[in-house]
Amino acid sequence: MKKKLLFLGPPGAGKGTQANLFCKKYRLDHLSTGDLLRDEVSSGSVLGLKAAEIMNKGELVNDELVLSIVEGRLVNNNGGWLLDGFPRNVNQANALKNLLDKINQPLEGVVLIKIANEHLIKRLLGRGRQDDNEEVISNRLQIYKEKTSPLIDLYSQQGILEEIDGNADIDVVFSCIERALGR
Ligand code: AP5
Repeated sequence: MKKKLLFLGPPGAGKGTQANLFCKKYRLDHLSTGDLLRDEVSSGSVLGLKAAEIMNKGELVNDELVLSIVEGRLVNNNGGWLLDGFPRNVNQANALKNLLDKINQPLEGVVLIKIANEHLIKRLLGRGRQDDNEEVISNRLQIYKEKTSPLIDLYSQQGILEEIDGNADIDVVFSCIERALGR
């Protein structure tokens, strides 16, 4: 059973929603860098304040900060884990690969949740998180296209990428993910 997973997709694709359900059902550690960064922001720390400024513009937070957050959680994990929102660019993907080689926990499956921009924008505006306004959403989508989408080819070439249609009801998408991961 695959227990070292990554969910990939544009903002609003449903990564967090599906990762939550999946981790509850299969008892994996849900590692969402977005949630971890928002916790840091809520703590009011200096790092959190810096991160908030960047997140509110829809830009990517500095790689070192994100890596340090993820590293601690992965190194101490004895069961399975699911990465959500990380890696976000090629540099983070290379750093993840080095870390996983070091701790001898290779990535076993990547799920790409695909959905057209028009549906994403509607969903995100309906949610209304601090970074869910038209200007910031458009920046997040642009950054996804430029920096994150090259990871699709990277994982496809490794033969571990599964593509899922994210434009369906939550339970339908969930079943498709389970099937794609052989559950
Ligand atoms: P992050 O929190 O990762 O945000 P994101 O990638 O923009 O993803 P979202 O949470 O918006 O979307 P999602 O795909 O998880 O969808 P969700 O399930 O929530 O990152 C936020 C910021 O943090 C970044 O911009 C960056 O600044 C920083 N950051 C994070 N990670 C970083 C990293 N690695 N490096 C650098 N910076 C980083 O669903 C969205 C909405 O749609 C919800 O309302 C949900 O209820 C609804 N929905 C979900 N599925 C369905 C469905 N099937 N049908 C109808 N509605 C649905």
